[in-house]
Amino acid sequence: MQVNPLTCSIGAELAGVSIADVARDDTLFAEIKALLLKHRVLFFRDQDISRADHVAFAKRFGDLEDHPVANSVPEHPGLIEIYKSEKRDHFENTYHTDASWRACPPKGAVLRCISCPDVGGDTIWVNMVEAYKHLPEDIKVKIAGLRAKHGIEHSFGAIMTTEEREELVRKNPLVDHPVVRTHPETGEKILYVGPFSTHFINYHTPENVRFGQDKTPGASLLLNYLISQAAIPEYQVRFRWKPNSVALWDNVSTQHYAVSDYWPAPRRMERATIKGDRPF
Ligand SMILES: [Fe+2]
Repeated sequence: MQVNPLTCSIGAELAGVSIADVARDDTLFAEIKALLLKHRVLFFRDQDISRADHVAFAKRFGDLEDHPVANSVPEHPGLIEIYKSEKRDHFENTYHTDASWRACPPKGAVLRCISCPDVGGDTIWVNMVEAYKHLPEDIKVKIAGLRAKHGIEHSFGAIMTTEEREELVRKNPLVDHPVVRTHPETGEKILYVGPFSTHFINYHTPENVRFGQDKTPGASLLLNYLISQAAIPEYQVRFRWKPNSVALWDNVSTQHYAVSDYWPAPRRMERATIKGDRPF
C-alpha cells in the first residue's frame, strides 16, 4: 500500500489497497485507522466493490446511522443515497461537519462515487484542528468554555411545509456542543461550529455584555468569524471524483464542502455514516 499525502495539512490518497480487503483484515484495518487519525481524510481509487463491501468496511469503525431527510438504499440500512439529478436541491455546498445537529454526531463516513460528471462536483475537506490552532490567542481565550446550539431546521427544513418542519424539529430538537471540542482518540482541540450552529448559549456574561446592546452583534459576529475559518485554503484538500472513488473521513476533526457546480448533470454518491459519541 502506498500513502500519498495530497497537501501539507490534510488528506492522503492510498494506492494498492481494496477497502473490501481492509474489512476482512485486522492488521490492515489498524493501519488504515492510524492513517485516518493522521491525515483525517483518506482517498481510494478504483474500488469496484459491492454495496455489502462498502457497508462492511464502514462497520469496522462502528454502527451506521440513517438520515432523517435523505433516503437509504432499501436493502442496506445506513447506506444513504446522495443522488443528484435535474432537481436542484443542494444542501451540501457549505462547509459543515455532518449531522452536528445530533446529540451524538457521526464520527466518520465512507462516501463512494457511483457516477459523476467528467468535470465538476469535487469535494473539499478542511482540517479543523489547524483552524483552531491558528486562531488568534485572544479569540482562543474568548471561546474557551463557550457552547453553541446546533439545529437541522434552517437547512433541511427550509423547503418543507410547516407541518413537516415542525415534525422534523420535534424529532431533532436543538442540541448544544462545545465550540472547541476535544478529539476522543488524539486529544486534539477542534473548532466545532458551522452552518448548523445557531447561537451561543453562554455568551451573555458581564465580561462579554456590558449592555444588552452588545449581545447580538458581539455574539453573532464572533460566531460568523469562527464559521468563516473553514474557508481558508491552507486548511483544505480538494478531491476530484471518478466512479468507484471512495473517501473515508474523520467527521470529528474535519468539515467538508461538496462543490455543486455541475447542475443539471446527474451525480450519484452513496454514504455510510458511522455513529459517534457526545462531543466534549
Ligand atoms: Fe456532508
